[in-house]
Amino acid sequence: MIKIINICGARPNFMKIAPLMRAYQAYDNIEALLVHTGQHYDENMSDLFFRQLGIPEPDINLEVGSAGHAKQTAEIMMRFEPVLLEHKPDWIVVVGDVNSTIACALVATKLGVKVAHVEAGLRSFDRDMPEEINRLLTDAISDLLFVSEPSGLENLAKEGVAEQKVHFVGNVMIDTLRSNLEKAERSPILEQLQVEPGGFNVVTLHRPSNVDDAATFGRIADALDEIQRDLPTIFPMHPRTRHNLSKLGLAERFAAMPNLRILEPVGYLDFLRLLGKAAVVVTDSGGIQEETTILGTWCLTVRENTERPITVTQGTNTLVGTDTNKITSAYRKCRTSARSAKPVPEKWDGKAAKRIAAVLAAAGV
Ligand code: UD1
Ligand code: UDP
Repeated sequence: MIKIINICGARPNFMKIAPLMRAYQAYDNIEALLVHTGQHYDENMSDLFFRQLGIPEPDINLEVGSAGHAKQTAEIMMRFEPVLLEHKPDWIVVVGDVNSTIACALVATKLGVKVAHVEAGLRSFDRDMPEEINRLLTDAISDLLFVSEPSGLENLAKEGVAEQKVHFVGNVMIDTLRSNLEKAERSPILEQLQVEPGGFNVVTLHRPSNVDDAATFGRIADALDEIQRDLPTIFPMHPRTRHNLSKLGLAERFAAMPNLRILEPVGYLDFLRLLGKAAVVVTDSGGIQEETTILGTWCLTVRENTERPITVTQGTNTLVGTDTNKITSAYRKCRTSARSAKPVPEKWDGKAAKRIAAVLAAAGV
């Protein structure tokens, strides 16, 4: 029996872990446990996704909650170590690039438990981004590295990672998108918000570099002001961003945009429906760059770089940075350009988790 502890903690982890937990079920020789670190804990940042995506109840919740990087990472490590000592798994599987990812990987490797990293090799080459540090460190201590796009293979080869550890399996986030598209069609969100397909924009922002700094957030707000004059704009707001709105004195600025609607974060099915039917998506999310690529919706990424370059070369994504005029002129361009059909990125076919489970089953204890 191969015992695998799977780790999730923050919103984007849930879409990545869901197809994996399902894929293991095809193997009699895999025993899969699920640990939730509790990094995200609000109903609509966590539990809602478990219900909508059919993720099994976590076997253990470390309930770490929010804190600065050092405290949060350290808390996860301290609470995860006894779990590993008790359950003695053969592998842990970590996904993505959040603090929960590196914290659990680090604990495991020091206890001699093998680490598999899903979404390995992505690099923004921007070490001011906390996630870039998490990616570099997690990949450096992983025994199996599951890669979602060709740039990941190139980056890991350049860093000298042994080829036999690396497997190009595709994108688990897109597994989840594909298996939920039909259900998302039935979401009533467009009617609830009284918007028409193609007649609205969607915004999400949560990167500290964008929303923790008043000047940068202000420049983005100026762009959003112009964008909402063109079309109703729906902004499901991440809790970090919500906290900063009043802290940075921007609440009134947003309240004065009549066509921009701030919502609480919405569930996956509603969000997928919004993404699929939006005219333009303005975001700094990692996962949303990939989802819009598959949905064929224009995506303007308010960042200077992306660790997911295939979404630009083969998708609908454009990097627009945080300059007001750059954002608004890219927006106007989207509004007047037809989307050209591009080939779907290789292996973004809904079968990535199955490939991962097969590699783990073959790797053994
Ligand atoms: C984290 C990840 C980021 C990921 C994002 C996905 C790290 C370093 N960052 O950023 O890579 O893109 O999740 O959404 O791991 N909060 C709540 N309720 C919650 C969760 C958070 O109110 O359920 C608030 C707290 O005030 C907290 C803040 O949001 O301090 C930030 O949460 P945190 O998990 O530290 O970072 P994120 O910005 O969510
Ligand atoms: N998402 C969602 N509801 C929202 C915003 C995002 O379900 O209100 C989903 C989105 O479709 C994607 C994931 O959350 O699957 C992305 O998470 P996030 O942007 O928080 O993190 P990142 O991908 O940037 O790490």
